[in-house]
Amino acid sequence: MQSEEIRKRFLEFFKARGHAIIPSASLVPENDPSVLFTTAGMQPLVPYLLGEPHPAGKRLVNVQKCVRTQDIDEVGDATHDTFFEMLGNWSLGDKAAPDGVGEAGYFKEETIKWSYEFLTSKEEGLGLDPSRLFITVFGGNDSVKEADEESKKIWMSLGIPEHRIYIMEGDSNWWSPGDNGPCGPDTEMFYDVTEKGLGDLTKEAFKQADKEQKAVEIWNDVFMEYEKKDGRIIGKLKNKNVDTGAGLERLAMVMQGKDNIFETDLFTPLMNAIDMRAASQDLCAKRIVADHIRTAVFMIADGVLPSNTDRGYILRRLIRRAVRYVDVLKMKEGTLAALSDVVVLKYESVYKNLSSEKEHIGQTIADESAKFRQTLERGMKEFEKISRHGISGKEAFALFSTYGFPLELTLELAVEQHITVNKKEFEEELKKHQVLSRAGAEQKFKGGLSGHGEMETKYHTATHLLHQALRQVLGEHVIQKGSNITPERLRFDFSHSEKLTDEQKKKAENIVNEQIKRALPVSYEELPIEEARARGAIGAFGDKYGERVKVYTIGNDKTGIFSAEFCGGPHVKNTEELGHFKITKEEAVAQGIRRIKALLES
Ligand code: ALA
Repeated sequence: MQSEEIRKRFLEFFKARGHAIIPSASLVPENDPSVLFTTAGMQPLVPYLLGEPHPAGKRLVNVQKCVRTQDIDEVGDATHDTFFEMLGNWSLGDKAAPDGVGEAGYFKEETIKWSYEFLTSKEEGLGLDPSRLFITVFGGNDSVKEADEESKKIWMSLGIPEHRIYIMEGDSNWWSPGDNGPCGPDTEMFYDVTEKGLGDLTKEAFKQADKEQKAVEIWNDVFMEYEKKDGRIIGKLKNKNVDTGAGLERLAMVMQGKDNIFETDLFTPLMNAIDMRAASQDLCAKRIVADHIRTAVFMIADGVLPSNTDRGYILRRLIRRAVRYVDVLKMKEGTLAALSDVVVLKYESVYKNLSSEKEHIGQTIADESAKFRQTLERGMKEFEKISRHGISGKEAFALFSTYGFPLELTLELAVEQHITVNKKEFEEELKKHQVLSRAGAEQKFKGGLSGHGEMETKYHTATHLLHQALRQVLGEHVIQKGSNITPERLRFDFSHSEKLTDEQKKKAENIVNEQIKRALPVSYEELPIEEARARGAIGAFGDKYGERVKVYTIGNDKTGIFSAEFCGGPHVKNTEELGHFKITKEEAVAQGIRRIKALLES
């Protein structure tokens, strides 16, 4: 079964069970300061998992693009990748509707039953062999002591033998997106991908099979009942929710009888294109190039550009790493841009923005590769000079700051030459120079989700005011390109090509402060997307919420409407809550994109 059919079947299966199909959100999280990329299907849904009503109802299903880079060093083996698609279904709240049908939420019973049905049904699902399934369930941890016996019973009632259900200790079957946000115990499904079949396994043997990727995790059902703050569970959520996630690449691997994701239809056009061009047979290098270029294509299509900070840095690192492996494979310069076209071709029918951004994607990759080649040439000379006796942190830092050598490149080259690098000293040096680095970016990457605290809420509303103010001062071409909010400040990226004059900044600031003084009410409505557009609501997230969208309006018929914008919230009730608004910085982030940082003072 091809990947297209798997996606389709998944969506149809849950649609037939009362779920609304919602589109994939962007890889770049909206209004979420603490993660760089969307790393799970649940992430764009956090406000709803925390209790806000979702415009599409209580049962949702989608295929979400995700990026996770913490396992970047594992890419090259059978199952790791930095970009993947997650198939997920959600229930927001478990309460039955009064009439008990359709739109009601659900919990463990339905979730597990449907997962099993989808995996094993030949007609509606994947028709997998139930006797190859292994199941794990939560066995209790420091915060929640009880094992999830209920899930175990449900699995048994479906015919899974007790000895193939493993109760796992500690946090192994506990899922949370980071230190903050909704979380809970989970039950995971594994599939035996060996040719002969592993048969029944003891718990230890199962763990080993998991490690060796012989039993591969294909789906995770999370029962989100708890909330975490700063790494601690602070109590139960208002609602019991369900969050599930199945990796498309892995399902394709299982369905296509492969023992690695790179031989599935999702990767074969790309792997073939690499095979045709490569003079070396280094399989791991081929997989790294395939993985990194695929991820880069999706990032660029969602508006990320190579840079030295945050998201841009992760993209830069992927492209640069791919360039290095292009050399290992002895492929021609310019190969990466050509490979990016292969990715676009494979995915454009599912992700429409790939075709419209095709030229831009190819050009961005070509430019970044060319730039890196220059860096490599200059930096390599320096590296050779200093690498004779191991590299001090100061030298590694000089390679980074003067020659643009990222630390991981220095580390990789050092491993190849059997010399050491003083990483600790490098990091101290980096701190001293206050450069936003891989360290900074990755810390954030791993940091999990933001809370929706009071200050963050204020900054969300201030961001809408600023967006509209900039449109009044600079023109209607101004559109949000990114937003990042912490309790201390807002950061807003927008389309505009020139540096703002002091006068323009002052004007925008004044407009925002005027709206704060006017004490404008903030309200929201859920509307069909066409109606929201027709009313002039702005926002770059046009296809995010499906047919109905939430529009936040600042002002009303009485005061006059100052701004109307697509957004998931949350926002303050009245602009007078905001205090005094002040722009602290204005700078370029990329060609045609400016960034403003601003504060609210009480
Ligand atoms: N959010 C869960 C996961 O990513 C389903 O595994």
